[in-house]
Amino acid sequence: MPEPASGQDPVVAPGVDVSRPSIARVYDAFLGGKDNFESDRAVVRQILRIAPELPAWTRENRRWLARVVEWLAREARITRFLDLGSGLPTAQNTHQLAQRVNPAAKVGYVDNDPAVIAHGRALLLENANTFFVPADFTTPDQLLADPVVAGLLDRPVGLIQALILHHVEDLDQTRELVRRYVEALPSGSYLAISHACNPRDGSEPALLATALEEKFREQFPSLRFRTPAEITSYFDGLELLEPSVVRLFDWWPPGVDHDETTAASLSEAAGQILYCGLARKP
Ligand SMILES: C[S@@+](CC[C@H](N)C(=O)[O-])C[C@H]1O[C@@H](n2cnc3c(N)ncnc32)[C@H](O)[C@@H]1O
Repeated sequence: MPEPASGQDPVVAPGVDVSRPSIARVYDAFLGGKDNFESDRAVVRQILRIAPELPAWTRENRRWLARVVEWLAREARITRFLDLGSGLPTAQNTHQLAQRVNPAAKVGYVDNDPAVIAHGRALLLENANTFFVPADFTTPDQLLADPVVAGLLDRPVGLIQALILHHVEDLDQTRELVRRYVEALPSGSYLAISHACNPRDGSEPALLATALEEKFREQFPSLRFRTPAEITSYFDGLELLEPSVVRLFDWWPPGVDHDETTAASLSEAAGQILYCGLARKP
């Protein structure tokens, strides 16, 4: 990863506390973005000492998101997308991916980070089919009642929960959140999840995941990695598409050529850190 530039901090948007790291800005720094501050970059430096491959994972997460959104828009003919915990805008955001396939596709973003909210407002100006809702996704009743979110539920939706569910510490609460959102979606909708994984089986990948989890939790105490079985349980009652719940690198939609380049560049342990899946609501 290019070392985040120091001494070139971006303008501070209202409500943004730069003295403490935010996960949205730390993630932006991993992606090589410019919307981060020294408090965020200090976390990045500590994490890189444990897992120098993490930037490759964050980039792969965005590539996975692109594969999912393009497949949903093109093959599944999904015209509504709800991206919970959207993060700071980067290259190839959900609305750009979906609207490249179908300019009429409507995309709603939700995030509660002040820096993301400031950028989200700017995103709103881009076109009439892109929306941003500044909200906490852990209060589904409130969020589902929001006119923008409610307005997206008139047709099958692609619900994206990319690298957000592991910010809720309690597994049962997280499962219940997923269940509430899925319950609100029309039949024929899809649920896409990517998630930090810890197999917790004493293996080398588990030791690496535990070291990462502990370091992240020093700053973000609610963060919780989950086992592949726990991640799979979010999809209960849904039709999981092949290849089911797997490493991000191993998830490719039907008919799309596998690119093994990134996976081949990672160690076996680092290769296990992020898992994902896509399922259809019957
Ligand atoms: C690691 S980033 C992932 C961004 C994007 N989904 C992606 O995969 O590229 C996690 C995002 O979730 C947001 N987030 C965390 N907890 C949240 C909450 N309770 N409500 C809304 N957003 C939240 C953070 O602000 C951050 O932007």
